[in-house]
Amino acid sequence: MWWLITVLSFLLGRVCDGGITSSYIREAAPSTEIPKKDFPPPSGYNAPEQVHITQGDQIGRSVIVSWVTPVNKHPKYMTYWEANDKDGIKRNRVRSKTTTYRYYNYSSGYIHHATINKLEYNTKYMYELGKGNNTRRFWFTTPPEVGPDVPYTFGIIGDLGQTHASNQTLEHYLGSRKGQTVLYLGDFSYADVHPYHDNEKWDTFGRFVEKSNAYEPWIYIAGNHELDFAPEIDEHSLFKPYKHRYHVPFRASQSTSPLWYSIKRASAHIIVLSSYSAFAKYTPQYNWLEQEFAKVNRSETPWLIILLHSPMYNSNNYHFMEGEGMRVVFEPWFVKYKVDLVFSGHVHSYERSERVSNVQYNITDGLSTPVKDPSAPVYITVGDGGNIEGIADSFTEHQPDYSAFREASFGHALLEIKNRTHAFYNWHRNQDNVSVSGDSIWFYNRYWFPKEESTYSSSTKTA
Ligand SMILES: *[C@@H]1O[C@H](CO)[C@@H](O)[C@H](O)[C@H]1NC(C)=O
Ligand SMILES: *[C@@H]1O[C@H](CO)[C@@H](O)[C@H](O)[C@H]1NC(C)=O
Ligand SMILES: *[C@@H]1O[C@H](CO)[C@@H](O)[C@H](O)[C@H]1NC(C)=O
Ligand SMILES: *[C@@H]1O[C@H](CO)[C@@H](O)[C@H](O)[C@H]1NC(C)=O
Ligand SMILES: *[C@@H]1O[C@H](CO)[C@@H](O)[C@H](O)[C@H]1NC(C)=O
Ligand SMILES: *[C@@H]1O[C@H](CO)[C@@H](O)[C@H](O)[C@H]1NC(C)=O
Ligand SMILES: *[C@@H]1O[C@H](CO)[C@@H](O)[C@H](O)[C@H]1NC(C)=O
Ligand SMILES: [Fe+2]
Repeated sequence: MWWLITVLSFLLGRVCDGGITSSYIREAAPSTEIPKKDFPPPSGYNAPEQVHITQGDQIGRSVIVSWVTPVNKHPKYMTYWEANDKDGIKRNRVRSKTTTYRYYNYSSGYIHHATINKLEYNTKYMYELGKGNNTRRFWFTTPPEVGPDVPYTFGIIGDLGQTHASNQTLEHYLGSRKGQTVLYLGDFSYADVHPYHDNEKWDTFGRFVEKSNAYEPWIYIAGNHELDFAPEIDEHSLFKPYKHRYHVPFRASQSTSPLWYSIKRASAHIIVLSSYSAFAKYTPQYNWLEQEFAKVNRSETPWLIILLHSPMYNSNNYHFMEGEGMRVVFEPWFVKYKVDLVFSGHVHSYERSERVSNVQYNITDGLSTPVKDPSAPVYITVGDGGNIEGIADSFTEHQPDYSAFREASFGHALLEIKNRTHAFYNWHRNQDNVSVSGDSIWFYNRYWFPKEESTYSSSTKTA
C-alpha cells in the first residue's frame, strides 16, 4: 500500500532539468494550533516543567539542563547520577542560575539553567528536578568520545510550532527511535504570531517538546520567530524570550554571542549561524566564522555541518532569495573548507540541492548561474515541522538545475553518520509510516571521500 503510493508519487513527480518536483503534496494533519489547555503543566505545587537539555561544552562531556518552576525559584538545584548506579547512591547536585523576564504584560516563571560538567562519554545518566512529591525524573545518554569513525545519528527538525501537524512530526521522529540528538533549525513556538506575542505560547511549546528534549539534546539555532522585536508594545530587545529560555555553550567556541557557536559531537563538527544578526565583513559573526573554519580538524571530526535558518538555495516562492545576502558573504568559505551539508529551515516545505556553488559570480561578470561543484555542500531545507503558518506549496515554476528534489509536505529528516566516509540521509513525510523514506541518499564525505553522489532521489523503505 505505502509502496504503491510512493512509487506513484515518484512517477507523478515532474522531472525537469534533472530535478524532481514531487507532486506528493498533502498535509497529513491540520496546521492549526493545539489549544493551550491541551499542554497542561505537570501536577503538583511548583512542579518543574518545560525541561530541556543541550550540549554544554565543545566536546560533549557537559550538558545544560533547563527548566521552569512557575511559583517560586526553589529548589535551585538538580541531582544526577549514573544510571547503572541503580539506587542513585552516588548522587551529585548542581545549582542552577535562575532568571525571569517580562514581555509586554506577561511575566515568566523562574527559568533555571544548570550546567553539568565532566560527564563520562557514552554513559546514561538519570536526573531529578523538584522536591518531595513534586520530584520529576528524566535521563539522557552522553555521546561517544569525539573521533573520526564514530557513528552517530542526528534528527533534523525545523519550524515546528505547536499544531496537530507539529505533534505528528515529533511523534514520527520519536517513533523512528533512531535519533540521538536533534539539530533544531529555528522558529520554535510561533508565539509572535499571536496578539502581544502571547508568551504563554513559549510555555506550552516547552511542555510540548519535553517528551523529546528532556531526554536528548537539541542543538538550537534562532529563527526569525525568535526575534520578538515589537516596538509597538515597547519590546525592543531582540531575541528576548529565546535568550532567556534557551542557553547554548557559545563561549566554549570563543563566540561572543549565543546566536552563533559551534560544537563537536561524535564525528561531526557543527557550526550554528544566525541569519538575523549582522554577518557582513568586519562584523563579530564574520570574524568569528573566519577563525572557526580555520580550527576545524577533519582528522578528528570528518563531518562538517552548518545550521542556519534562512536557506541559501531555495526554489520555493516563499522566502525566495532571502538567504542571498549571507550566501554572497559566506559561500566562498563553505566551498573552500569543503562543508559537507548545510541544513536550513524557514521555508515550510522540503528541498535538497545538488552540490553547486555560485562563487564565480562577482556582479560584473554575468556568471550568475550556480554550477556543479564537488567541493560545495548539499543544501537541505527541512522547514517542514508543521507550524501554524501552514505549508509552503508554491515552488518556482521552472525547477532550477541546482534543485535535486523538492516536495511540499511536512516531515523530519535523519542523518545517520556511519564512519568518516559514509552517511545515510533520509527524509520522512508525515503521511507515511515512519519506516518509509520520502527522499534518501548516501552522502560521501567531502574531505575523505569526495566522490560524486547519485542525486537520484528514491522513495524507499528504510526499516
Ligand atoms: C495582556 O493584555 C491583553 C490585551 O489587553 C489581554 O488580552 C491579556 O489577557 C493580558 N494578559 C495578561 C497576562 O495580563
Ligand atoms: C505533597 O506534599 C505536600 C507537602 O509535603 C503535602 O502537603 C501534600 O499533601 C502532598 N500531596 C500529595 C498528593 O501527596
Ligand atoms: C500527540 O500525538 C500523540 C500520538 O498520536 C497523542 O497521543 C497525543 O495526545 C498528541 N498530543 C496532543 C497534545 O494532541
Ligand atoms: C587533528 O586531529 C588529530 C586526531 O585527533 C590530531 O592527531 C591532530 O594533532 C590534530 N591536528 C591539529 C592541527 O590539531
Ligand atoms: C569579475 O570577474 C571578471 C571575469 O572573471 C573579472 O575580469 C573581473 O576582474 C572581476 N571583477 C572583480 C572586481 O573581481
Ligand atoms: C563506511 O560505511 C559504509 C556504509 O556502511 C561502508 O560501506 C564502508 O565499508 C565503511 N568504511 C569503512 C572503512 O569501514
Ligand atoms: C508501520 O510499519 C511497521 C513495519 O512495517 C508496522 O509494524 C506498523 O504497524 C506500521 N504502522 C502503521 C501505523 O501503519
Ligand atoms: Fe522562519
